[in-house]
Amino acid sequence: MNKKALNWAELGFQYVKTDYRFTAFHENGEWGEGQLVSDENISIHEGAPSLHYAQQCFEGMKAQTAEDGRVLLFRPKLNCERMNRTAPRLLMPEVPEALFLNAIEETVRANYAWIPPYGSGASLYIRPMLIGVGENLGLNPAPEYEFRVFVSPVGPYYKEAGLAVISLAVSEIDRAAPNGTGSFKAGANYAGGLLATRKAKELGANEALYLDAAEHRYIDEAGSANIIIASKDGKLLTPASNAILPSITRRSIMELAAKSLNMETEERPIDLRAEFANFDEAGACGTAAVLSPVGKIWFDDDWHNIYQDGQTVGPIMQKLYDLLVGIQKGEISDNFDWLHEIEI
Ligand code: PLP
Ligand code: COI
Repeated sequence: MNKKALNWAELGFQYVKTDYRFTAFHENGEWGEGQLVSDENISIHEGAPSLHYAQQCFEGMKAQTAEDGRVLLFRPKLNCERMNRTAPRLLMPEVPEALFLNAIEETVRANYAWIPPYGSGASLYIRPMLIGVGENLGLNPAPEYEFRVFVSPVGPYYKEAGLAVISLAVSEIDRAAPNGTGSFKAGANYAGGLLATRKAKELGANEALYLDAAEHRYIDEAGSANIIIASKDGKLLTPASNAILPSITRRSIMELAAKSLNMETEERPIDLRAEFANFDEAGACGTAAVLSPVGKIWFDDDWHNIYQDGQTVGPIMQKLYDLLVGIQKGEISDNFDWLHEIEI
């Protein structure tokens, strides 16, 4: 099968229309089996609760091509688990794992020509989404739901490719309340963050960094990624917070640090100002962000450097990146059983 003639290395994180997407409907309390369709537009009732009250959630994952041509997903069952934790929080029906995985596999297979080849630096981003459809006006759950999966070949999330160092700016706007929806992958969390991202970019940063909403002291996460810190005393730290998205990438990186690098790891509240001097390296991690080293953070009206300007990635982030991406691309043996091959 031929691949599309795209300039894979030039791709950014933008939507590219592929040939097929999968759609299934939940009606009268039951999921239909779903099918592939070619129309990228959704026809939706003007009264749909997903449009008015943000009754919708989504997931993000990637398929990669290995050197031997295998097409690999990374821990997709955890994305299904997370969607099925978010869905009931928003009074939406869970998506059965078999439907979730089948939808992803069928969509990836049908769009084989769009999966970036091994070594191209790009990957196929997969966006599963669950939306409340059908008519409704009051603040009630939707009568029907659509589960849809589309894919798009993508390059790096931050415009600098690979392991380029990024910067974050602490936002005075909160992303999520302590007992709100921050730990769920609800689209509503992201709408509220658009302004924070814009303000961060105006300061010259790549992304907003959120501190805990109650005290504005402890690191929560970035707009689209969790945070990890390599401390000067040799540990890998990551924030404990009930307001952040439980990142599958972070969970994997923490396990790699502990088991493959024999590092001491700690998931605990991290006080940005009090602990900054103990930061040796920092990174933002997620499906889209992969592992992007953080070189400096804007807070209290100033830039605070972790790396000196112009410095490239530090050794801990480099090792973690190599391990993570090596496994995801099938270059390093998958000792943790994280890969899910799609038969093409
Ligand atoms: N935090 C936020 C707000 C995100 O949107 C994402 C991306 O999904 C992550 C963290 C990283 O999560 P994961 O590693 O599961 O992609
Ligand atoms: C992902 O990393 O998959 C996300 O969903 C983040 C999004 C803002 C691109």
